[in-house]
Amino acid sequence: MKKGFIKLVACALAGMFLLGGCDVLPKGTDGPYEVPLTITADFTKKEGKGGNWVTYGDSKIQLKDGKALVTDRKASNDGIAIPCPDYRGNTINASATVSSANDSVTISMRYDIYGNVSYVNIAGGATTESGETTISGNVDIPANAQNALIYIEASDVRDITVSAFSVSVVGDFNDLSGTPVEELADPTKTASLSAAYADYFKFGVATPTTVYTNSNDSFKKLVLAQFNSVTPENELKPENVLDAATTKADPEKYNECPAVHFDAAKPILDFCKENGIQMRGHTLVWYSQTPSWLFYENYDVNGQLASRDLMLKRMENYIDAVMNWCEENYPGVIYAWDVVNEAAADDGGMRDCYWKQTIGDDYVEKAFEFARKHGPSGVQLFYNDYNEYQTSKQEDILKMLKPIAEAGNIDGMGMQSHISSGLNVDNYIAAAKRYADELGVVIHITELDVTAPKSLNSMYDQGVYMKKLFEAIIQADKDGVPIECVTVWGLTDDMSWKSATKPLLFYGNLSPKPAYEGVMCAVNGGDVAKPADYVEPVTDTTPFVEDYEDQKFIGGPRYSSVQKIVEGGYESKYCLENTEGYAEYDGYSIDVTQYAGHVIHISFAIKSKAPSCKCTADIDGVWPNIAEVQTGTDEWVLGEGDFEIEEGTASLTIYFESTDMSPFYLDNVEIKAMN
Ligand code: XIL
Repeated sequence: MKKGFIKLVACALAGMFLLGGCDVLPKGTDGPYEVPLTITADFTKKEGKGGNWVTYGDSKIQLKDGKALVTDRKASNDGIAIPCPDYRGNTINASATVSSANDSVTISMRYDIYGNVSYVNIAGGATTESGETTISGNVDIPANAQNALIYIEASDVRDITVSAFSVSVVGDFNDLSGTPVEELADPTKTASLSAAYADYFKFGVATPTTVYTNSNDSFKKLVLAQFNSVTPENELKPENVLDAATTKADPEKYNECPAVHFDAAKPILDFCKENGIQMRGHTLVWYSQTPSWLFYENYDVNGQLASRDLMLKRMENYIDAVMNWCEENYPGVIYAWDVVNEAAADDGGMRDCYWKQTIGDDYVEKAFEFARKHGPSGVQLFYNDYNEYQTSKQEDILKMLKPIAEAGNIDGMGMQSHISSGLNVDNYIAAAKRYADELGVVIHITELDVTAPKSLNSMYDQGVYMKKLFEAIIQADKDGVPIECVTVWGLTDDMSWKSATKPLLFYGNLSPKPAYEGVMCAVNGGDVAKPADYVEPVTDTTPFVEDYEDQKFIGGPRYSSVQKIVEGGYESKYCLENTEGYAEYDGYSIDVTQYAGHVIHISFAIKSKAPSCKCTADIDGVWPNIAEVQTGTDEWVLGEGDFEIEEGTASLTIYFESTDMSPFYLDNVEIKAMN
């Protein structure tokens, strides 16, 4: 049972508590105050009248029948929010029931962190206007986050109807509402990454504008001390560059040439110009963070989609206007542009999006043609994508870019590299080499962040991985793979768009992480120091046996699958059922880290209507198959296989899946070390 946290806030006692550094008063209360562990929006109450909700961004909210109707949304992130400032340092669950004519709705979090702003997506789901969708997800709020808000946004600017919206604390409540935020470390005391890597490539960072407008200049100092390339995290994306008000006020005048402005990006451009730092322009043509009105006749989303000819004109004029405004006002600052971002689909081929729908499959080719035609000479033109190291996506990207390379309209491949410390480094480097060789382009690693392993020594293990990764990047560079820039996607873990995964080089207080040390060790030699609280991993070769007769299981879901114990086991009463999920690889996952340094033998009984089922080691990028069995008859089938787990592996799971997403049933799983 969760319990509310009682605060003694009687005014007379408050001074004492404050002096003792014990607590601060929750706003406007002078009696016992209980931080509610669930905050539920009440749509029978107007904003500011105790309904626990606020308007988020530029939208209007009408209340009707206990629901909130969010209208007049100008940008995809305009919506409705629940403020939860007292939940810092906690894991929370956010849940909303919505209907909307937008394709999808997302619950996101926004918080201030030392004067900077961070946005994190929590959960999303496809929506329809007629039926309701419930979206729910968990997220960690960093301990130093202030003014956390959970808000509902959508893929587009159409209305959203919200019938339920709540935020609650998961697990025991950690009350930090009276604890001051941590002091920042001196940003000038840490050795420079860009200086250490000067012989190899530029070392860049993505930052939001607030780093430069913030009254606290520590973040700016860290950028200056560490990096020699900067990418605006959001400020040069179409949603920030397109001037909606001007364009829509006179759609006839701006019909072929949408108005643009650079208010959001100017502080970053100014900083780069003043300090001689070069910038990667991100990004011109993208399916996301691009308002849908751009694709409609008269810029009216209630009308018809614009014709191919009109969209080609809008695209050409936009690319021309943006590249040349930047060059004229900030000559030489932007040295590379991500001309097209994320055009390849996750499940093969090209991603379906407004650009493709209006212009056709050659929109990518056209974008590069226009960028080459209008772009200032010497500015490098990049294609940029994620999961770019995965074999099938790589094939699609290469196929798409080959004609563009042949036409001489592309200079670089941007490997986003949102990866995890489970990614196979050799596979990753092979991808970089292949792009360079087959397209004749240079490589930028554009958005590196590395999800920390869920291991006993997570930060240290991440540092060890970073060393291995950067050693391989340096070696590839020495071997002639033209890696010219490596950019990390954010300054600190707490500022990351994936803050809960702690994927960056600096802690929230600006002090360097073991991940930073790993990057430095790769170039300077030496090893990441073991922390004082290092926990020696124990190799435990006790066999893992699950027959489900006790109706229990220790493994868990991979992504969004669901497991249940059901009757009808293999030669016994019970077995494990795996259902739901969004992809075939949403299966049942078992941690096998304890067998590091051993060959394991896995045996199991499995049953499914799918043609086959697999057991696979979860090594990002390679996913080695341990066993595959033919199923499909709905009879139990036995499977087995061996797998060698490298010594020193900090974290590894194996997972079972059915190859067409049919439910599968598992029994008699046995894993034992062979040596
Ligand atoms: C992310 C930003 O980091 C977030 O602040 C924003 O809310 C969403 O976009 N691929 C890209 C980047 O090319 O532009 C994305 O940046 C991360 C994924």
